[in-house]
Amino acid sequence: MKIAMVGSGYVGLVSGACLADFGHDVVCIDKDADKIAQLQSSKVPIYEPGLEDLVERNADAGRLSFTTDIAAAVADAAAIFIAVGTPSRRGDGHADLSFVYAVAEEVAKNLRNPAVIITKSTVPVGTGDEVERIIRDFGTDVKFAVASNPEFLREGAAIEDFKRPDRIVVGADDEWAREVIREVYRPLFLNHSPILFTSRRSAELIKYAANAFLATKITFINEMADLCEKVGGNIQDVSRGIGLDNRIGSKFLHAGPGYGGSCFPKDTLALLKTSQDYDSPLRVVEAVANVNDNRKRAMGRKVIDALGAAPRGKRVALLGLTFKPNTDDMRDAPSIAIAQALTDVGVNVIAYDPEGMEVAAPIMPEVEMAQDAYAAANGADAVVIVTEWDAFRALDLNRIKAALNAPVLVDLRNIYQPEEMRSKGFTYSSIGRA
Ligand SMILES: NC(=O)c1ccc[n+]([C@@H]2O[C@H](COP(=O)([O-])OP(=O)(O)OC[C@H]3O[C@@H](n4cnc5c(N)ncnc54)[C@H](O)[C@@H]3O)[C@@H](O)[C@H]2O)c1
Repeated sequence: MKIAMVGSGYVGLVSGACLADFGHDVVCIDKDADKIAQLQSSKVPIYEPGLEDLVERNADAGRLSFTTDIAAAVADAAAIFIAVGTPSRRGDGHADLSFVYAVAEEVAKNLRNPAVIITKSTVPVGTGDEVERIIRDFGTDVKFAVASNPEFLREGAAIEDFKRPDRIVVGADDEWAREVIREVYRPLFLNHSPILFTSRRSAELIKYAANAFLATKITFINEMADLCEKVGGNIQDVSRGIGLDNRIGSKFLHAGPGYGGSCFPKDTLALLKTSQDYDSPLRVVEAVANVNDNRKRAMGRKVIDALGAAPRGKRVALLGLTFKPNTDDMRDAPSIAIAQALTDVGVNVIAYDPEGMEVAAPIMPEVEMAQDAYAAANGADAVVIVTEWDAFRALDLNRIKAALNAPVLVDLRNIYQPEEMRSKGFTYSSIGRA
């Protein structure tokens, strides 16, 4: 099938490359000429494990190509995916749908053959109706349908998630659209990935409900961790103790510095805006968003406390900047608020991240970047593990200690054991563990 993927970011590029790998003929489109030029010369502009190989292999096989020319790509595609960004709108926190609607207009202008337009971007309920209206109002006489197919991939494991999804959600109010999308994902049914057909509005809502629920789980365990610190409990034991209950499940019960990334913060906010527009409060989600917002800066204060009296002029090494490991994505990463809280009280911050420093440097210009974890620790008054990259799980602790000015380690991901760290001579603090 000829597929056009409009938007070649984390979602569009992974989805496009995986669909090409299934055997479809895929064109990835982006308005960012620089990004397309890189992709045309087999350079992948983001860090995602396995993606470079997948892109190269499918481009070489002639199934995957890249262009800025949406007109030509859309004209002969049977399935047109919209995978552009839907960031928070400046000022009010609604999802900014201007990129989605701009694509809808381009599609309307250039539609030449019957096609299903499939929104993969995370969009508020009702956006599909508006995309359909835009195309219809353009007066096209070509057959088309608009469907919703939210994406659930996780950065860092995106290819695996796309190829072996827990489920594929398709929201379509039209049988022909369902047939076309079934054909797109046929290789996955052979792997028994469940496909769930719903109305378009339900599919749009499923994506937000899923993210809000996961954000709630994380926030719940984070608050429970704070209580553990006060009462002398161990959050890892509590997580395990509740996670073994199948009704709860063990995933997303790791206490940490608060959720970040390109989805949860903006999606919980956008969902709240929808709930306000429809006068249907989501108070749990409201609390989750507020608690998480406060938590990131509170983590900065936790580090300041660990520095002891007179933090001004001290030096702190941050290990990990990205919002999670195996990505270079810095969007809404907790490290940003932590670094800010530290620099606000005059602490000098130096950081190391295996993949994120290039993206992070312009976002945090006051932070010095180091070559590796040991260089970052050199002469620092504390080292803070912010992101649980594998590289930080097996640090040479004696070398870190020797490099530090004071043996203070704040482990915001609980990757080390308190007793062991203390026996090695560290002043160690973590999340929710005495
Ligand atoms: N990143 C994730 O893990 C993830 C997971 C699930 C869903 N989503 C959702 O998928 C959508 C895309 O997210 P992303 O992380 O890939 O964003 P991204 O910012 O990495 O990529 C979006 C791309 O769209 C391009 N674009 C914008 N307007 C365009 C236009 N008119 N024509 C062509 N290209 C255009 C941009 O240049 C950019 O390259 C968002 O709605 C997001 O919420 C993201």
